[in-house]
Amino acid sequence: MSKITAAITAVGKYVPEDILTNEMLEEMVDTNDEWITTRTGIKERRILKGEGKGSSYMAIRAAKDLFEKSGVKPEEIDLVIVSTATPDMKASPTSAYTLKEIGAVNAFAFDLEAACSSFLFGMSVASSYITSGKCKKVLLIGADKNSSMVNYKDRATCILFGDAAAAVLFEPNEEGLGIQDEYLRTDGQGRESLQVKSGGSCYPMTKEDIGTPNQYIYQDGRTVFKHAVSNMADATVKILERNNLTKDNVQWLAAHQANKRIIEATANRIELEPEKVMMNIQKYGNTTSATIPLLLCDYEKQLKKGDTIIFAAFGGGFTWGTIYLKWAYNS
Ligand code: ACO
Repeated sequence: MSKITAAITAVGKYVPEDILTNEMLEEMVDTNDEWITTRTGIKERRILKGEGKGSSYMAIRAAKDLFEKSGVKPEEIDLVIVSTATPDMKASPTSAYTLKEIGAVNAFAFDLEAACSSFLFGMSVASSYITSGKCKKVLLIGADKNSSMVNYKDRATCILFGDAAAAVLFEPNEEGLGIQDEYLRTDGQGRESLQVKSGGSCYPMTKEDIGTPNQYIYQDGRTVFKHAVSNMADATVKILERNNLTKDNVQWLAAHQANKRIIEATANRIELEPEKVMMNIQKYGNTTSATIPLLLCDYEKQLKKGDTIIFAAFGGGFTWGTIYLKWAYNS
């Protein structure tokens, strides 16, 4: 019997209608389109508006888009993983509500949180459930409502983040396609460089916190940037070397969309041509867990069966890594 690998066999997405452009941000904080574009590559991002709408609102719609496009039925799903750094509520998994609303009646579900590496780490977990034979269909959704933790008076962070969700389906493959190798790392020294201080178990939210920086996302941009550039590039080189891949064997780089300069630095390190670098940060900003599956949705039509895709991410914690995958279908 041939070896079972975990392949992506369908994708789907949801982005909110409301668009927040750089020009709109110019009216809100002391910034300008030129600074944002040259420092980050971002032009606009989507914002989920409306009372009571959380990450699950987008996760549900991304999953439904996948079902509609692929013809897969929700009752066929064995496991739903929602990768998110912005769950709907504490003590109640976003994935559980998502599972109910999409009708995945034969599945179990859990959330996975590893900041901006949540989706990449989710790919590894989904793959393990498939290759172990425990599951036949794993729905992995990346969903984040970053606007819920952004201070729109802080120019250092409010320009970076957006809201979105996207989903992929993992299934067993016997043709040698799907995930080939992974290199995942974590280093807890990043705890103070990127976090929301209040609202967790260390510092539950108090009335004194309301309206202060403690309530919102804080990032030491320069420190995070430095670690992101070196670690993401190092991880990518490592995966290429140990799989005897050169840039000519790689068709695509699908890197977490946090900053165009970080993505380009990773591509430059392996001398990859710009046309092989997936990029949509200009449209959505940093959507945390949704960036990588959103790339797959936007590039799906250009992907060919057998294409080598290198996935890379870096996020809070710090967390980072690289996954080498062979694409499994022509759309
Ligand atoms: N508009 C204009 N000026 C600004 C803005 C703004 N929006 N924001 C900051 N500035 C100013 C700063 O005040 C500073 O001014 P000063 O020199 O007078 O002090 C100057 O611009 C430079 O600031 P830096 O923070 O050094 O800018 P940098 O070039 O590092 O870019 C950025 C900032 C875009 C945040 C970058 O550091 C970055 O992308 N960091 C990494 C992001 C990342 O990868 N995050 C990980 C994933 S996120 C997650 O896990 C949830």
